[in-house]
Amino acid sequence: MDDAYDPTAYGTEIADEYDELYDDMFETDTAVACLTELAAGGPVLELGIGTGRLALPLARTGLEVHGVEASEEMVALLRAKPGGADMPVVVGDFAEVSVPGTFSLVILAVNTIYALPDQDAQVRCFANAASHLAPGGRFVLDAWVPDVVQFRDGPSVRPRSISDKRVALVLAEHDPVRQRINTTQVHLRNTGVRLHPVNHRYAWPSELDLMARLAGLRLQDRWGWWDKTPFVATSNMHVSVYG
Ligand SMILES: C[S@@+](CC[C@H](N)C(=O)[O-])C[C@H]1O[C@@H](n2cnc3c(N)ncnc32)[C@H](O)[C@@H]1O
Repeated sequence: MDDAYDPTAYGTEIADEYDELYDDMFETDTAVACLTELAAGGPVLELGIGTGRLALPLARTGLEVHGVEASEEMVALLRAKPGGADMPVVVGDFAEVSVPGTFSLVILAVNTIYALPDQDAQVRCFANAASHLAPGGRFVLDAWVPDVVQFRDGPSVRPRSISDKRVALVLAEHDPVRQRINTTQVHLRNTGVRLHPVNHRYAWPSELDLMARLAGLRLQDRWGWWDKTPFVATSNMHVSVYG
């Protein structure tokens, strides 16, 4: 497993295919409805704003939306979309950079807390998010719940999606000491093969809650998904709201 952490790597590598791969996968409308309610009319900061999948529809509801993004390639795609040209975006690492102003809602979506390479960086990210909250503001993230049973016999291979145009497989190896799962998504098409590396340092919800406490935040709500499905023993995702 490669130790060097480059916050631009994921976005830069996947930018040209991101919207095609993920537009339909994440129930964007459901997330936007929940986020709009959480913002309660106040300004929003999205960490890892990407191509604006959430930020642009949030801005269309009338909210003021700002972003942080490491990858210039992702920002370029956001800029090219209607409403994206003028959206304030700071290019940098969301565990470290400061953005002018304070916000009613800070968002970190699509498991992206796990993109940070270790516990220290994730703790810094919580502190950075907390430092950008206006009084009464909230920090919301969504992430998968770790399930390492699939690695009992070593690296795992799983089909992710199958269609007549593309088959996507996920190959992953697990380092339980560092709580890291290094993944390569393999996309097979008639036109060729494309590999997308996605490396995660995972944490159980309880560890994230402690990171929040270190940042002076407390868990306010935890759902199983953006539709506010209750979080239960079988939930494989969580949406966690800290304030
Ligand atoms: C899975 S994408 C999510 C994009 C967008 N939030 C969405 O919901 O579609 C994660 C984004 O976070 C960015 N990113 C990852 N690590 C980062 C870091 N340390 N600092 C800033 N941006 C980062 C990536 O470049 C990518 O655009």
